[in-house]
Amino acid sequence: MLKPKVRIGMIGYKFMGKAHSHAYRDLPFYFDPEAEPVMQAIAGRDREGVETAANKMGWASFETDWRKLLERKDIDLIDIGAPNNMHVEIAIAAAEAGKHILCEKPLAMNVEEARRMRDAVKKAGVVHMICHNYRFVPAIRYAKQLIDQGKLGHIYHIRTNYLQDWIMDPAFPLVWRLRKEACGSGTHGDLMAHSIDLARYLVGEISEVSGMMETFIKQRPLGEMSGGLLAKTESDLMGTVDVDDAVAFMAKFENGAVGVFEATRFGKGNRNSNRFEINGSKGSIRWDVQQMNELELYLEEDPQGIQGFRKISCTETVHPYSEAYWPAGHIIGYEHTFINLAHELMRGVAHGESPSPNFDDGYRNQLVLQAVSDSAVLKKWVSISE
Ligand SMILES: NC(=O)c1ccc[n+]([C@@H]2O[C@H](COP(=O)([O-])OP(=O)(O)OC[C@H]3O[C@@H](n4cnc5c(N)ncnc54)[C@H](O)[C@@H]3O)[C@@H](O)[C@H]2O)c1
Repeated sequence: MLKPKVRIGMIGYKFMGKAHSHAYRDLPFYFDPEAEPVMQAIAGRDREGVETAANKMGWASFETDWRKLLERKDIDLIDIGAPNNMHVEIAIAAAEAGKHILCEKPLAMNVEEARRMRDAVKKAGVVHMICHNYRFVPAIRYAKQLIDQGKLGHIYHIRTNYLQDWIMDPAFPLVWRLRKEACGSGTHGDLMAHSIDLARYLVGEISEVSGMMETFIKQRPLGEMSGGLLAKTESDLMGTVDVDDAVAFMAKFENGAVGVFEATRFGKGNRNSNRFEINGSKGSIRWDVQQMNELELYLEEDPQGIQGFRKISCTETVHPYSEAYWPAGHIIGYEHTFINLAHELMRGVAHGESPSPNFDDGYRNQLVLQAVSDSAVLKKWVSISE
């Protein structure tokens, strides 16, 4: 039987554009996806830049205005890898044009935008997904299986740290990630959104939060991102940083668990440390993206004397997605999280079902982000409410 083809139009071709392009290219190499991704077109504003990117990354065509992608009949899915302030307009227009959507995180700048995006995809009946790629790490998928099987027992605690250090130099410019009108929030929507997603996936819904936020460097020279997490200073003029550099919050979960969350771009020496520990009545797990193939597991059922955290290399055929790659012990990396996510996206489109995490998850995530910001301003506990 012929596989359905999913013709993709992608907006934004730098950091995430590269990760998504690679995923679509490599998906059929490793997996036998239920629908075939076709790299139909990318959009960017600068003709030379977008043409070069299309040729380098293997896209069949390009546009210099993203709206053109929505008009094209030969595009089935819109992939949004542009800054956060563009998500709402693109996603709603794409849904109204009947296109399926993959949107980068955070879903939106605020709850109101996220709600409108969620309502638009539901009304249009298109498949929707949000790019919380860490859910697709084999070790995280396996952790979810262990928790669902009751191996850890009743969950009491989650503590997460998401630490980076790329903006610590005061001369680092005021890129879009540090301007509220472009990103909505700083470290919070960028890094903490991932930790919130993992907590919701592994532990459950958060019901109440108490948070704090800090901006350490309040003025920076003007400039823009040049790719990855690098940037170019473009002026001697200074501008105001109006988003958080660091954020922390305590949380209560609907199931009685409690959480402590920390995210910062001022964690000197931590280039990208995304880690957590979960403690249950029968066991605990620990994970850090810097050793993303490994899951640390403690089980009370182990005989006394040899109890302790063991390190599992989640590269065996029993571990989710691992069979598609290499023999046991032959590790995978950051880019494979996007391939696994693209695999679920293609399955979703083939079946007309939105995979998880989708815009419902993006919306719920935004409710938590908002409650933490509100709590930091009000200096008190805030309940998560619609
Ligand atoms: N899943 C993850 O772990 C992860 C990691 C990094 C970024 N992100 C998210 O991905 C999104 C993009 O971030 P990034 O790191 O790729 O940013 P980036 O600065 O590297 O790239 C942004 C891209 O958007 C393009 N763009 C900006 N305005 C545009 C316009 N008007 N029309 C067309 N294109 C436009 C830029 O030219 C660039 O290609 C953000 O929402 C960010 O939060 C997610």
